[in-house]
Amino acid sequence: MCGIFAYLGPRNDAGRVVIDGLKRLEYRGYDSWGIALQTGEDRLWLKKEVGKISAVENLELPNAQIAIGHSRWATHGGVTQKNAHPHLNEKGTLAVVHNGIIENFQELRKELKKKHKFRSETDSEIITHLLEDFLEAGKSLEEAARLASFRLQGRFAFVVISNSERKLVAARRGSPLIIGVGEGEYFLASDIPAFLPYTRHVNYLDDDQMVVISMDKLIPDALFLTLEDASPISKRSIEIDWDAKGAEKGDYPHFMLKEIMEQKETICRAANQDDALIHEVVDLIKKSKGTFLLGCGTAGKVALTGSYLFSRIAKEHINAVFGSEFPAQAHFINDKTLIIAISQSGETADTMEALELAQAKGAKIVSIVNVEGSSMDRMSDITINIKAGPEKAVASTKATTAQIAVLTLLAYAMVGRLNEAKQLLVDAASQITEMLNPRYDGYIETLAVKLKDFESMYVIGRGLNYPMALEAAIKLQEVSYIHAEGFAGGELKHGPIALITQGTPLIALVSKDESEPEILSNAIEVKARGGYVVGVSPENNDIFDYWIKVPDVGNAAPILSIIPIQILAYKLAVLRGNDPDMPRNLAKSVTVK
Ligand code: M6R
Repeated sequence: MCGIFAYLGPRNDAGRVVIDGLKRLEYRGYDSWGIALQTGEDRLWLKKEVGKISAVENLELPNAQIAIGHSRWATHGGVTQKNAHPHLNEKGTLAVVHNGIIENFQELRKELKKKHKFRSETDSEIITHLLEDFLEAGKSLEEAARLASFRLQGRFAFVVISNSERKLVAARRGSPLIIGVGEGEYFLASDIPAFLPYTRHVNYLDDDQMVVISMDKLIPDALFLTLEDASPISKRSIEIDWDAKGAEKGDYPHFMLKEIMEQKETICRAANQDDALIHEVVDLIKKSKGTFLLGCGTAGKVALTGSYLFSRIAKEHINAVFGSEFPAQAHFINDKTLIIAISQSGETADTMEALELAQAKGAKIVSIVNVEGSSMDRMSDITINIKAGPEKAVASTKATTAQIAVLTLLAYAMVGRLNEAKQLLVDAASQITEMLNPRYDGYIETLAVKLKDFESMYVIGRGLNYPMALEAAIKLQEVSYIHAEGFAGGELKHGPIALITQGTPLIALVSKDESEPEILSNAIEVKARGGYVVGVSPENNDIFDYWIKVPDVGNAAPILSIIPIQILAYKLAVLRGNDPDMPRNLAKSVTVK
């Protein structure tokens, strides 16, 4: 949510480096963008625009070796040029980019308004004015940043430059900020793929830490400090194993399609976990007095899938809760509780806050994440990396199925059947390889053409496919903008069936298990009321108006059921003229509450 990118080093085209970096971060926010450069003039050079940074070409930029930039997802204040970052002070000598939410912004704004003229409606501009006051009181840029951070409540990551000091200063509490360490140059970004073309060596800034990167010496240097009392922190950079190509679209028109197709490999990679690690987590589940699976959005639906998998395979009750709803369960949490957080980014604010709450009560934390070194990874007792590689489309696809694969391993390992789970997943992956071909793609496109002008559609499932019906609805909503809702098949007759009229599309997710006859009955009830029934099933049935075949893969059914819906959502988005990678109003990593 909001992308920050900054550069300091010997290159004279820092502005271009930052613009390119922002383009690679655009999935985090795409309402507006801006950059500020230190050019040696009295005023910092500034450019801010409404719209997508990806549309920017041939922008004339002055030479600079220090630059900061931002791609915005609006929270406080509308999508306007004034509200775009960076925010400069009146003299133009200071520039700030910020990600997060400053919760006490109203009170600070009231106070600062007495002295400063606000030019935006954002909470972020407050940081600029606080910094200016501390600088005027004789503090250095880094001390001003540290003191300003004491005044801020909420989550933030901010980077500041001035016209006079050859430095980048950044601070973090709760929002991600990663330092890319190049050959005599530094990059600061909200996410690693942004600087992958330059370096794979990274340093993570933790909460309540700051970094000062300065050009004072011949070779720039980074100094890490605590926000509390500016004590130096020693950090060693680590090398991450993502490559720049994995974070590019290649020949695909969109990241979403590329990531759907990658599921041929990602399921196997996710299944290829170290047995000892899986058993370590299983031991924690067995020892705990209450385990909660936690996630938001799609990851929340995966958490629910996990609860069904544990019940079905391991006969073990595990709770599934949305991160934002977790505080309501907090009275059940103590030092015997285990929390298993599921998150692609490892940065989602609602999940993070739930984990912090649980950790404060002594609970153990396991996280299942895609981003190594993310906040959740670093705060967890144990992390399982799903190894899906960079997922850039806002709509989660390959991370979703990789997360389900890991939960399948855990559920089977609970009853000593880990190898069976690995075989099941490898078999499912090979079926996916056969399924994802141009003929299948064309067949789903034909369905998308039939459905593209409908206002609403519904998805039903039972058992393992129920959470996938909910996930299917999210996928359809977020990229096609068609109203879609998922239900448990048996729930239809308790209310939602009233929504069915002649031709209403209903997608039934059907597996070859004990739930099959009942979910087919639910589909028949809809058909009897004029509904258009799309069956996603290993076998055709007379009641289906359109049949999408999925292989029968037993308990790996949720993984296979969702893939055709991902393709359908993608096709509907493209047919309706939407950008599937950057759907309206959304951002990839939701780091605000
Ligand atoms: O990074 P996370 O997995 O924690 O993200 C959680 C949700 O924001 C995310 O799954 C969201 O619902 C996706 N856009 C759905 O495709």
